[in-house]
Amino acid sequence: RIPVVIDCDPGIDDALALYLAFASPELNVLAVSAVAGNVGVERAADNAARLLDHLAVPSDVPLYAGAGAPLAGSERVPDEPVHGPGGLGGVVFAEAARQTAPGHAADALAGLLRDRPGEITVIALGPLTTIATMLRRHPDVAGAIGELVIMGGAVFVQGNVTPAAEFNFYADPEAAHEVLASGVPIRLVGLDVTRAALVPAEIADELAAAPTPVREAGRMLAHLAGVYAARFGVAAAPVHDALAVAAVVRPGLLDYTPGSAAVERVGEITRGAVVADIRGVTGRPATIRFATGVDADGFVRLLSSRIARHTPG
Ligand code: BDR
Ligand code: CA
Repeated sequence: RIPVVIDCDPGIDDALALYLAFASPELNVLAVSAVAGNVGVERAADNAARLLDHLAVPSDVPLYAGAGAPLAGSERVPDEPVHGPGGLGGVVFAEAARQTAPGHAADALAGLLRDRPGEITVIALGPLTTIATMLRRHPDVAGAIGELVIMGGAVFVQGNVTPAAEFNFYADPEAAHEVLASGVPIRLVGLDVTRAALVPAEIADELAAAPTPVREAGRMLAHLAGVYAARFGVAAAPVHDALAVAAVVRPGLLDYTPGSAAVERVGEITRGAVVADIRGVTGRPATIRFATGVDADGFVRLLSSRIARHTPG
């Protein structure tokens, strides 16, 4: 089993990514951490704690809280319009019995990575603030990360917050830049592929008709599909973060183009944009694989069948 840690900001698609991860025998989830993004860090940690309890995740899987504001100290960019009040599309899970483990996620994850150098895959599903903080505080840990799989960026396509930028990178471009330039081996799962792998609204409805804990996933998916339908007239939901987890569960699901990248931090209209170098013109080492193709049907089947594996507790 692939040892992974999951840094997230639940968030509907983060929550669905956790449904997928905890129903996937290919993965051994060592820890979960919460970062400010779709919601504030306390809310993200509380949403994660409630969800882990809801999915009967063993209490020895620790949950850490990480960064609460972008690296450069700017205001958090909220994403509540997409995820609804509370961040989970109006779904309210029971109060959590589990507590957040002590310590900042940046230090806790560094400890885990040091203990198993080269073995752990870090899956980052929110703004990269905690991961960048970890690399600043513990520079040696860069060499201990097996792989970093990031949901973020609109590399060769339009952004979703601005025409240039995707939410996770727009929310903390300084962090995104530092992480992408760190030399850590990265797979970047951006809007290029997540937007090409929408989950049809009928699947949301099917899941919503199942017993708990599956029905809550269906309801969250239905919320997302509703938002997408209102904006773009398509009865389907982008489940960005779950595709990043799926990329680890099923390595053949995505196609990649290698290169390096920088993230715009000062542009008047391009803050948060990824500037990818796939032709080697900058001379920087090609440490990033940009996801450029996706088996959309394979993803939809994997996600829906794995969510459905969760059994009543
Ligand atoms: C990303 O932004 C958030 O809204 C989602 O959770 C996802 O991580 C997509 O741009
Ligand atoms: Ca997210």
